[in-house]
Amino acid sequence: MQMIGKAGKVAAIAAIAALALTACGRTEPTTPGGASGAAGFPQDSSIGVALPQKTSENWVLAEKLFNDGLSSAGFKADVQFANGGVSEQQNQISAMITKGAKVIIVGAIDGAQLGTQLQQAKDSGATIIAYDRLLLNTANVDYYVAYDNFKVGVLQGQALLDGMKAKKPTGPYNIELFAGSPDDANAKVFFDGAMSILKPKIDDGTLKVVSGQTTFEQAVTQGWKAENAQRRADTLLTGSYTTASLDGVLSPNDTLARAVLTSVKAAGKPLPIITGQDSEVESVKSILAGEQYSTINKDTRKLVEHAITMVKDLQAGKTPEVNDTKSYNNTVKTVPAFLLPPVIVTAANVKTAYVDDPVLGPLTK
Ligand code: BGC
Repeated sequence: MQMIGKAGKVAAIAAIAALALTACGRTEPTTPGGASGAAGFPQDSSIGVALPQKTSENWVLAEKLFNDGLSSAGFKADVQFANGGVSEQQNQISAMITKGAKVIIVGAIDGAQLGTQLQQAKDSGATIIAYDRLLLNTANVDYYVAYDNFKVGVLQGQALLDGMKAKKPTGPYNIELFAGSPDDANAKVFFDGAMSILKPKIDDGTLKVVSGQTTFEQAVTQGWKAENAQRRADTLLTGSYTTASLDGVLSPNDTLARAVLTSVKAAGKPLPIITGQDSEVESVKSILAGEQYSTINKDTRKLVEHAITMVKDLQAGKTPEVNDTKSYNNTVKTVPAFLLPPVIVTAANVKTAYVDDPVLGPLTK
């Protein structure tokens, strides 16, 4: 998969050895004081959760779920958003260390800018869990818990193709590509996953990126901001689609998908097939209304629940369960990960996809 570095083979061998040692994937700590947090810690310890900016609904939901879940497990929950940017997040992590956090869970704004704070956290004896977004260029990250980001991109790329084909059985199809924020480690992984499906079709002429903007750098949306995607969509429409029709748009998430649709509507053009991610309320409504084509269901409740299970294991001196020890190399180490499977949602399954969801369930009945 993506991000398998030089360490990939070594990690794979280690993974096989680890599996041989345990039937359920859970190993007993072997390195006291090491990544396993072998000694455990008091139940009422402080647990830091450093969240990024509120760039999509999933983060807002995560805040509440972490506060409720950690508190009801007896921990002191210290959950912070860094809407002011990277330096605010750095300060928040430093403050968590000062308060004696035993575990620090980090959803990074910029996964490559926290090296100093993560070193201090490690020196203080805390265990560090990267949440949703990988922490880059550091040895000081013990675990990663996320939905499989590359798979998200693959599902988006395939949905874009399927949606366009259902509307117009034969190509060529005119498309444009949008990516997330370049400081978020996930953004390139989503894009690479989608391009693993789309690139061969661009190469064989089935897909035409009329603007010619096919690289990640050309497709990025700074800060995951809707206004940036909308502005780029406006420019693409006036620059490349005065006569050509726009059949499809790869959008990495729901916020940006709705921004692009706003731009297309303002230009008075027919709506393209467009992908998304996060199952945001407005996008699920848009799918029901036949506008946005797809989203991805990455149930935040399950992700937070697994992160809290890891904290509970560490508290008890157990090594948290992981299910992937080869995919996420952060340039310094391959981070043991627990990956959850993302699910594609279109009009075809929107009424069944969210049966267990307290908000989206009633909305899609
Ligand atoms: C998350 C996405 C989200 C994006 C913007 C990414 O790191 O994985 O679910 O849409 O950030 O908030």
